[in-house]
Amino acid sequence: MDIFSSVTLGRLQLANRVVMAPMTRSRADIDAVPTDMMVDYYAQRAGAGLIVSEGIAPSAAGLGYCRTPGLFNDAQVAAWSRVTKAVHAAGGKIVAQLMHVGRVSSHLNKPEGAETVAPSAIAARGEIYSDQSGMVPFDTPRALRTGEIAWVISDYRRATANAYAAGFDGVELHCTSGYLPAQFLSTGTNQRDDDYGGSVQNRCRFALETLAAMASVDGAARVGMRICPDNPFNDLKDDKPQETFEYLLQQASQLDLAYLHVIRMPNRKVDNIALGKRFFGDRLVVNDSYDLDEANAVISGGEAAAVSFGRPFIANPDLVARFRQKAALADFDPGTLYAGGAQGYSDYPALDEVSRGL
Ligand SMILES: Cc1cc2nc3c(=O)[nH]c(=O)nc-3n(C[C@H](O)[C@H](O)[C@H](O)COP(=O)(O)O)c2cc1C
Repeated sequence: MDIFSSVTLGRLQLANRVVMAPMTRSRADIDAVPTDMMVDYYAQRAGAGLIVSEGIAPSAAGLGYCRTPGLFNDAQVAAWSRVTKAVHAAGGKIVAQLMHVGRVSSHLNKPEGAETVAPSAIAARGEIYSDQSGMVPFDTPRALRTGEIAWVISDYRRATANAYAAGFDGVELHCTSGYLPAQFLSTGTNQRDDDYGGSVQNRCRFALETLAAMASVDGAARVGMRICPDNPFNDLKDDKPQETFEYLLQQASQLDLAYLHVIRMPNRKVDNIALGKRFFGDRLVVNDSYDLDEANAVISGGEAAAVSFGRPFIANPDLVARFRQKAALADFDPGTLYAGGAQGYSDYPALDEVSRGL
């Protein structure tokens, strides 16, 4: 068995085990609506067994970076429908990654009136880019009142329904990298004294209720979750990540989700892959700095069901075809990652275009 074999994860049938990892590319318009170039970009990458979209905000408050997309209004649903249709026409599958950034935000990157909220009113150290003012400090968030949390969770439920209305094959909860669910999980960002803070059970409540809300729309078999225990990104700190994630995964494994997407992080306190495997056995998608040989090794060794690739997909839209041919991979231009415009985004050629001199 190798990376080119098919696999079924919940209700998602993948033609191969190469997953495109979620990547924010800041190509939506200023109203968080996907643009035409995003239709091209995703269709070009439909050779992946599954595409996980860039992080998509479930609400206006969930936006934080400039020109990132949402799934909370009709215009966004209509635009995403064009993306999913193009991916399906090219033979691919695509799930929507729901990403609420919580405190990792600037109001400059949100529509007027959308607040920056988090479990506690603790600002992340650091800065975030805005088109208007360049680098600015992160907002100091307003702590969510207990009664508001159910509304935030219902935003994820509505965004899941919107994702299905837009033709996505599934949804993935972004539960790492210092964004809202991770802010609830971690002791450094969650200092609440209600049912959503304090004990490990309470800190995991938000993520688990959100997953249940997403699963309530059309079953858990279309829902995945992405984690990276002990990830310090965006000023995140948890005193006991092993304990936190053991409880989270033990509870989440009872929901019968389609898959668990795990970013490995060597040299930290937790062996992320081993932990994921303990609770999600044959439904594991693994990520971070894999190459073809290592990916084939973990698939044939039964360590993972699929491997996701992020950066290799940026300049190699036909990554799976290149893997099949053992072709050299192209390097991407870091300068255009978030630049806006088709350059360095949807203009990387496929191999056959290169050989035809296009
Ligand atoms: C430009 C860029 C944007 C990213 N945006 C997201 C994102 O929106 N959501 C997410 O979960 N991970 C995001 N990531 C992390 C990737 O999904 C992936 O975990 C990382 O690139 C490591 O995998 P790789 O070695 O195959 O690139 C991003 C990475 C890059 C390079």
